[in-house]
Amino acid sequence: MADLETKYLGLTLRNPLVVSSCEITSKVTGIRLAVDAGAGAVVLKSLFEEQINAELGGDQGFAGSAFPDEADLYMREMGKAHGPRGYVNLIEDARRAVDVPIIASVNCISTRWWADYARQIEGAGAHALELNIALMPLSLDETAEEIENHLYRIVRDVRAQVNLPLVVKIGPYFTALPRVVRNLADAGVNGIVLFNRFYQLDIDPVSLAPVPGYQYSTSSELHLPLRWVAILSSQVDTDFSVSTGVHTGMDAVKSIVAGAKVVQIASALYRNKIKHLSTILEELDQWLDAQGYASVAAARGRLAKAGKHKPEDLERMQYVKALAGAR
Ligand SMILES: Cc1cc2nc3c(=O)[nH]c(=O)nc-3n(C[C@H](O)[C@H](O)[C@H](O)COP(=O)(O)O)c2cc1C
Repeated sequence: MADLETKYLGLTLRNPLVVSSCEITSKVTGIRLAVDAGAGAVVLKSLFEEQINAELGGDQGFAGSAFPDEADLYMREMGKAHGPRGYVNLIEDARRAVDVPIIASVNCISTRWWADYARQIEGAGAHALELNIALMPLSLDETAEEIENHLYRIVRDVRAQVNLPLVVKIGPYFTALPRVVRNLADAGVNGIVLFNRFYQLDIDPVSLAPVPGYQYSTSSELHLPLRWVAILSSQVDTDFSVSTGVHTGMDAVKSIVAGAKVVQIASALYRNKIKHLSTILEELDQWLDAQGYASVAAARGRLAKAGKHKPEDLERMQYVKALAGAR
């Protein structure tokens, strides 16, 4: 059996499988099941900025709207019921219940409301803090630079307030993703999660109402984070975590050889039950043995070491090959 021990954000994990922020990690029972199935670490369900606002009795709602809609009211109710105080309890309970790193998560669009809470999260014993920064460009006037600067400002503000290892989860929709990732690393993050999977919007053709689209990913969605981790991991000095589309041991293998320190998993555990994590772990272990790697660390980033290290190899060449294949 290969040595699966993994260093991520300066923490020691028994293996590189991390359960992503989702409902499973919103309760100690789910966290225990995940750890029993083999999780190397868990990212707690996010505390939403709006929940903090609600607990503080703030009148700024979802996205700062002055006219609360359903989402706004939901967040306020959630905030009152499961706000930051409940979140601090969850961190403390999770720390007592399991012996793997507990990564707290905050979903934020500003730093206005939660400066104190970042410190409370640290005080409660979280091992690291993941920021899910969900900036949705809706204005016709806002420039890409303004949006990116807003992102860096959030990171710098939080970095100034907490000593915890800090990791940022971003979406894939940036024109110049390499530069954004490098700037985030320069702003002091210890790791970057590629990628957040945004709420999927669908439309009911009869009621013409927006409705939730399909909530869970498939393995086919792995290709996007895989490409970017392969391109960036040898160029930017930060810990990369792959999120979106990791469903099998081979998905984990591909992410690791592309350079990821860890993989994060959510949908696969909803589709196959939490114990599926042990199957993924077993497949990863079997692959390492079969390929003669004594440790997961030895396999990490092998794609770059195998000579496919120039970003253009991963982009243009693959595109050309795909076109040739299609013919
Ligand atoms: C039911 C559910 C709840 C989620 N809640 C959160 C959340 O609170 N915060 C967050 O950062 N991501 C959340 N996510 C996104 C996951 O953490 C993950 O990034 C995404 O599902 C892609 O990974 P996957 O392909 O393994 O599902 C949620 C996902 C699911 C399925």
